[in-house]
Amino acid sequence: MKRVNKSLDINVDKQQVYEIRIEQDYSHLAEMLKSLDMGNRKFMIVTDSMVGKLYTKQITDVLQPIAKSIHTYVFPAGEKSKNLDTVRACYDQLILEGFDRNDVLIALGGGVVGDLTGFLAATYLRGIRFVQLPTSLLAMVDSSIGGKTGVDFNSYKNMIGAFYQPRLVYMNLSTLQSLEPNHFYSGMSEIIKHGLIKDEEYYRWIKEHQKQIKDKDFDILAEMIYRSCQIKKTFVEEDPKETGVRAILNFGHTIGHSIEKIKNFDLLHGECISIGMVAAAFISLKRGYINQETYDDLKNTLEAFYQPITVTGIEINKVLKATKLDKKMDAGHIKFILLKPIGKGIIDTTVSEDEIYEAIQSVSIH
Ligand code: GLY
Repeated sequence: MKRVNKSLDINVDKQQVYEIRIEQDYSHLAEMLKSLDMGNRKFMIVTDSMVGKLYTKQITDVLQPIAKSIHTYVFPAGEKSKNLDTVRACYDQLILEGFDRNDVLIALGGGVVGDLTGFLAATYLRGIRFVQLPTSLLAMVDSSIGGKTGVDFNSYKNMIGAFYQPRLVYMNLSTLQSLEPNHFYSGMSEIIKHGLIKDEEYYRWIKEHQKQIKDKDFDILAEMIYRSCQIKKTFVEEDPKETGVRAILNFGHTIGHSIEKIKNFDLLHGECISIGMVAAAFISLKRGYINQETYDDLKNTLEAFYQPITVTGIEINKVLKATKLDKKMDAGHIKFILLKPIGKGIIDTTVSEDEIYEAIQSVSIH
């Protein structure tokens, strides 16, 4: 088999460039950490109960030759753990083990692990170094890149957090083989989003390579993840703190996050984003920014990757209210992301309450 090995650098500011490395195993991890002056340091592997079982031993074996000591902090898998209690318990352990600012946190897992570990790293001793080892498709193409870290608060998603960049993002594509199908396909929502907001040709490529993606063909997955990371990189580098264009990456998230909350996090993130993207595309359709054929094609593409395009049992007014409370506000106006046309996301602060209501209605079935 051909060796998968791709790399790109993220340059958020001249002081801090970090590498995104796409590999098919962990064989280069130790040498890369050493080259980042992380040899002979304490490592805390932060992971969850699902991923920890699968990969902690492997990572420990890889790090052993270069580490001063290796510790692990494991919390129960799932969005419900993404809170300040979990963070606090890990602070306790870091203090107990005597971690200082030269030591390193390793985020081993999906989006919840990555966001939470990044927040720990940003705040413990006013900031210690951390490395992302994303094991889910969603974390590989989205949450591990770009330094958004944080936790949920009273079921408000990502309400507490910081922008804090990792020193390295190292992806081992083999971990995708053990990912449950619904989690794998949930990641496809964010990938399809990248094509929709930035690159129509990539969107077509995803549709054309549907079979290879579903078969988890290594080379195709590597190509796809690389292209998605490139798109994410352009937004993050231009606007690291989301004062402008980075918000375009939130396409589908305004209504999607509200559905996620109203459904009590029973649906996966990517699934809610899929529904949110259809709702946002509905507004684009009504405004004449995309045509009916494009709108239908978008729904078919999401469905082809087993993503929901409707939701049952929601009260439209409740979703609307949650949408208005979401963070994506600018002086009281919701920063809505629309497609104008397909392949180009735009930020629009003029979307009315009626338009949002109709958009939610368009994806809601009783
Ligand atoms: N997930 C959107 C962003 O990182 O900006």
